[in-house]
Amino acid sequence: MNILIIGSGGREHAIINSISKSKRCSKIFALPGNGGTELLAENVIGDVNDFELIKKISLKNKISLVFVGPEDPIVNGIYDFFKSDPQLKNINIIAPSKQAGYLEGSKDFAKNFMEKYNIPTAKHKTFSTENLDKADKFLESMKPPYVLKADGLAAGKGVLIIEDLYEAKSELRSMILEKKFGDSSAKVVIEEFLDGIELSCFVLTDGINYKVFPFAKDYKKIGEGDTGLNTGGMGAISPVPFLDDNFLSKIQNKIIKPTVNGIIKEKMSYNGFIFIGLIKVKDEPYVIEYNVRMGDPETEVVFPRLNNDILELFDSMGTSSFNDTKLSINNKHAATVILVSGGYPESYEKGKTITGLNDLSNDLIFHAGTIKKDNTFLTNGGRVLAVTSMAKDFKQALKSSYSQIDKINFDGMNYRKDIGFDLF
Ligand code: AMP
Ligand code: GLY
Repeated sequence: MNILIIGSGGREHAIINSISKSKRCSKIFALPGNGGTELLAENVIGDVNDFELIKKISLKNKISLVFVGPEDPIVNGIYDFFKSDPQLKNINIIAPSKQAGYLEGSKDFAKNFMEKYNIPTAKHKTFSTENLDKADKFLESMKPPYVLKADGLAAGKGVLIIEDLYEAKSELRSMILEKKFGDSSAKVVIEEFLDGIELSCFVLTDGINYKVFPFAKDYKKIGEGDTGLNTGGMGAISPVPFLDDNFLSKIQNKIIKPTVNGIIKEKMSYNGFIFIGLIKVKDEPYVIEYNVRMGDPETEVVFPRLNNDILELFDSMGTSSFNDTKLSINNKHAATVILVSGGYPESYEKGKTITGLNDLSNDLIFHAGTIKKDNTFLTNGGRVLAVTSMAKDFKQALKSSYSQIDKINFDGMNYRKDIGFDLF
């Protein structure tokens, strides 16, 4: 079968890598893809939100399965676009509906969902111009630090954590009145700060049954020791060492089951991944956020651990065999280290020549922001490469990733030298 992957990051390259190993895979197309996806797929130029173009490509190339990587097209309703088009409706699109997309696309919607289905999360209240006059009192009733979240999508930048009450009041106004994050911050969720350790949970569901994928932990901060600005992710590991059976069973019972149950009760069409951002506070799990897609860079450590034929699994969704399929997880430890452009997550330059890639035999080097020109890879984004390794423990895996990184270079290249620092 022919497959179309929507997106251009390390996540999409890692997914293409897994799909390319499937017995059922004939040809893969990537829209728009990157320098690395070109090694396994045909890249097609275009915008991930151009649904008419995606339709044209799907029909022309007899696509049987579309995998949607990023949140934007999901929140914009790509699933509904496919299902309401007679020519596309039989294509298996791995993405949830627009309605389910609000779980990521609106923090207020997600919070109300969690409240309704008794899913543990930080206490909160939502504010907009209509009730802004009540916000100060609410902030005053809370303990610092204050967590302010833009309601809508803000490319991972819409969350502010502020120590000072006066500053929190002022930032809240800047978000709502001055549109600090555009229309995304017309509504702001203020919530209780949860002090704990985060982990990422991935659930594949067809809206009835579900499979829990390997958990992962990402390293979001730019600086060593988890300091500095937030990024899209500077590294990730899987499995998660502090996830024992007891904590896993709490996550299953208090979070995963009620979440899928809520999706069913709300009659949300769902055919894809729920990525539940969790935090462990005194041995209890709380939901920090929902995403309606796989994580990046978590995919780069989660998918390599999966032994199942991924296309067989996707094809079984919506049939009884999805429920019958057991996930087969490799018990090796996976770690990925992200190489980023100098300056990232603030402004950075593109177009730097990447050297050393041809000397490496590892097929787990995933391209995130690269482009291939005249047989040379150039940098083309903030996050450039994800260097994944798998080994019997994290020490070995990380050693392997770092020794490969020693051979890679581009002008301004930066990475965290301490991924996994908290595990040892
Ligand atoms: P979000 O976009 O909701 O995932 O928030 C981005 C990051 O902000 C999370 O990964 C957490 O590190 C942090 N964060 C969000 N909400 C809270 C909270 N209630 N308490 C503590 N940290 C939070
Ligand atoms: N790694 C976090 C995300 O994909 O949103």
